[in-house]
Amino acid sequence: MSKPEIGIGLVGSGFMGRCHANAFRSVSGLFDVPVTPRLEVLADATDELAQHSALALGFARGTGDWRSLVADDAVDIVAITAPNVLHAPIAHAAIDAGKTVYCEKPLSTTAALALEMTEAAEAAGIVTLVGFNFLRNPMIKLAREIITSGEIGEVTGFRGRHAENYMANPDVPHSFRTDPQGGGALADIGSHIISMARYLLGPMAEVQADCRTIHATRPKTLGASERTPVAVDDMTHALVRFANGVSGSIEANWAATARTMDLSWEITGTSGALAFGQEAMNELLIWSDTGGRSGYKRIEAGPSHPPYGAFCPAPGHHLGFNDLKVIEVAELLSAHAGGVSCGPDFREAYEVQRTVEAMQHSHASRRWVSI
Ligand SMILES: NC(=O)c1ccc[n+]([C@@H]2O[C@H](COP(=O)([O-])OP(=O)(O)OC[C@H]3O[C@@H](n4cnc5c(N)ncnc54)[C@H](O)[C@@H]3O)[C@@H](O)[C@H]2O)c1
Repeated sequence: MSKPEIGIGLVGSGFMGRCHANAFRSVSGLFDVPVTPRLEVLADATDELAQHSALALGFARGTGDWRSLVADDAVDIVAITAPNVLHAPIAHAAIDAGKTVYCEKPLSTTAALALEMTEAAEAAGIVTLVGFNFLRNPMIKLAREIITSGEIGEVTGFRGRHAENYMANPDVPHSFRTDPQGGGALADIGSHIISMARYLLGPMAEVQADCRTIHATRPKTLGASERTPVAVDDMTHALVRFANGVSGSIEANWAATARTMDLSWEITGTSGALAFGQEAMNELLIWSDTGGRSGYKRIEAGPSHPPYGAFCPAPGHHLGFNDLKVIEVAELLSAHAGGVSCGPDFREAYEVQRTVEAMQHSHASRRWVSI
């Protein structure tokens, strides 16, 4: 018996738009999802861009008007991969139209707007999911299981970092990422390490942060000689105290020369430790001290770490970044069909945004800030 089809409307066809389209196209061949996604409409900034991308990414239609995508009766799920400032208006329109909303991180440009989106979705009973795709890694799920089981003892410390180099060059131009409304390294990639810290150890109670702008100006557009002042952070270092008493630190840095995808952390416990880095995303390190042979052991991802086996029956062949998005979309489709929940939902993404803002307030006021 064929499964019910549901229509996908995708807003944006850049880096993340292509990643979402790939996930919706391939998910049914890899997971036993209850519904079959149909790539219905793609919206982008202009009709021309949208039609070009719709054709390239396998969508039936393209439009330069995201409002018409949201209102389209053939669209059941609205996937938002447009610049951050557009997340709130598109999500509110989709919620009003009763559609499932799948939004990229950060959820919005401020915690207040993120809360409005959350409350609107909850009041309307809308399924929501936010693209913290790094949480989908089976090695991260395993890490949480190990922590919860007590295998590393009582957790005593967390050291987390999301560092990349894509803004290290001062001639990388101004974009939505440097927009004072919701931009900056902390909101852009700090949100990933904050979401992971919360997934592994729970909420943070207090933070103290130092935010730094390294490049004071950037070209207005690619190659332009005219430069525009930068008002957001390139680098933030924060001390954090979790609600469970664990102390630690978090760094967000998009000007980290030499680092390409250093979303990494180390968690120490009274009798063991765990370490992970996204640049080697198919392994988790676990430290133990058995028989006087103390050291880190490397656990390699394989079919015994679900859902690795959905992609490949052999260990050591490795999952990749795009696979995490496919896992995310499989969970979204199951939640859309009903009976199961999925997350991180808007409420969890709001909590991440609240943590980002607490760090910004701490920097501005030069003191610890409670969340
Ligand atoms: N989850 C992740 O790992 C991850 C990675 C990268 C980006 N992101 C998030 O994804 C979002 C997009 O980032 P990106 O790197 O894909 O950016 P991008 O610049 O590559 O793509 C943005 C897309 O939105 C389109 N757009 C701009 N204005 C529009 C409008 N008015 N209507 C419709 N479309 C419009 C652009 O033309 C482009 O196709 C951001 O919120 C970002 O934070 C998430």
